Amino acid sequence: MRLSEALAMLRVARPPAPYGAVRLARCNSIEDVARVARRRLPLGARAYLDGGGEGEYTLRRNRAAFDSLEFLPRQPREVSEVDTGTTVLGERIPLPIVLSPVGAPRMFHHEGELAVARAARHAGLPYGLSTLATTAVEDVAAQTGTPLWFQLYIWGDRGVIREAVARAKAAGFRALLFSLDTTVRSKREREKRAGLELPAPDLRVTTLLEGALHPGWSWHFMTSPAISFPNIGPPDQRSLSVMPAMFDGTVSWRDLDWIRELWDGPILAKGVLRPEEAVAAAEHGLDGVIVSNHGGRQLDHLPATIDVLPGIVDAAGDRLEVLVDSGFRRGSDIAAALALGARAVLIGRAHLYGLAAAGEAGVRHCIDILAHELRMTMQLCGARTIAELEPSLLRHRGPADPWIAAAGHG
Ligand SMILES: Cc1cc2nc3c(=O)[nH]c(=O)nc-3n(C[C@H](O)[C@H](O)[C@H](O)COP(=O)(O)O)c2cc1C
Repeated sequence: MRLSEALAMLRVARPPAPYGAVRLARCNSIEDVARVARRRLPLGARAYLDGGGEGEYTLRRNRAAFDSLEFLPRQPREVSEVDTGTTVLGERIPLPIVLSPVGAPRMFHHEGELAVARAARHAGLPYGLSTLATTAVEDVAAQTGTPLWFQLYIWGDRGVIREAVARAKAAGFRALLFSLDTTVRSKREREKRAGLELPAPDLRVTTLLEGALHPGWSWHFMTSPAISFPNIGPPDQRSLSVMPAMFDGTVSWRDLDWIRELWDGPILAKGVLRPEEAVAAAEHGLDGVIVSNHGGRQLDHLPATIDVLPGIVDAAGDRLEVLVDSGFRRGSDIAAALALGARAVLIGRAHLYGLAAAGEAGVRHCIDILAHELRMTMQLCGARTIAELEPSLLRHRGPADPWIAAAGHG
């Protein structure tokens, strides 16, 4: 080979791109982004992001369940044109993805929900703002122009909820998500071990050490306004101290009837795991359900949502839209849920890792990864549209063959 040919094969080094862009460019999967996020966050924030309830069985089960699923592709099929678009609550969106509600996302990046909402708008996807958002509903609506849904936690003082719903309505929010699974808050052992004891985090030597080891995060955390919850209660009661009183175990279906009277737009019940709850949701006049175990953060020893999804889709029939979340990290996970009848998938940690890694650009990158993977999975399965993702494309892998397991190949 001549020297000129060898030189032509060498890539010319490019000038360095901004720090976040370099980190993101090397991330090809959500797990890659998660690794960057974990390096950026101190222990307490990592525990809040990655942790689950008690022994974290549900958290592990959420991922393990996808390992039991296999695709049976239809091939060869002409799939050069693929449409990943769908309709959710009457609105056409380019991907079957909604960004999950998350309390206090400013724990992960100082721009918090504004960064997430901007990334959602860029992708044309809805974003569910949490009752425990750290930015006011009016500001998120005015500054981002995203299709917004509002997630509701209900607790003792119903007047606070009435006011929050009225504000969300006035700000132009399109749908309500009513969370059923947080009547009381679960025991988060990983958070406790990290000293993240709510409402007053423990200040330990390790807290200070972790702060020093993550100067970028610490700088923004210390120079930004203190975390508060501007969508609930009077201004002097919007700090972390409200949390214990919030989840007082008094929620019932009567509250859903009450909310149905307050809100004339779509309402989804979030946290449904039993078919009869989907039936009840329809009878109470709701528009849909979200099959969810809260990302493994509430009751431990729950089933993975992908396993209970088909029964709930059957029970819902055409009376309700069925969405699903908990454990979705790949486009193929999303394709599997759609094949089993879900209309769309909510992503929690799969957007939070991006937020923690690089703010709005990080969330955008995560959406791009999932969009690419979903499109590729559809093509390799021979599905040109979301409607062509149907149950026969999937099979549940039975228990491992005992001979293979004994030989160490299982
Ligand atoms: C850090 C964190 C905070 C959350 N806060 C809320 C919340 O305020 N309201 C709510 O309904 N769900 C909340 N969730 C649950 C998510 O909406 C969603 O159900 C869950 O994250 C889905 O699982 P995944 O993270 O595996 O995608 C939270 C999840 C995380 C990771």
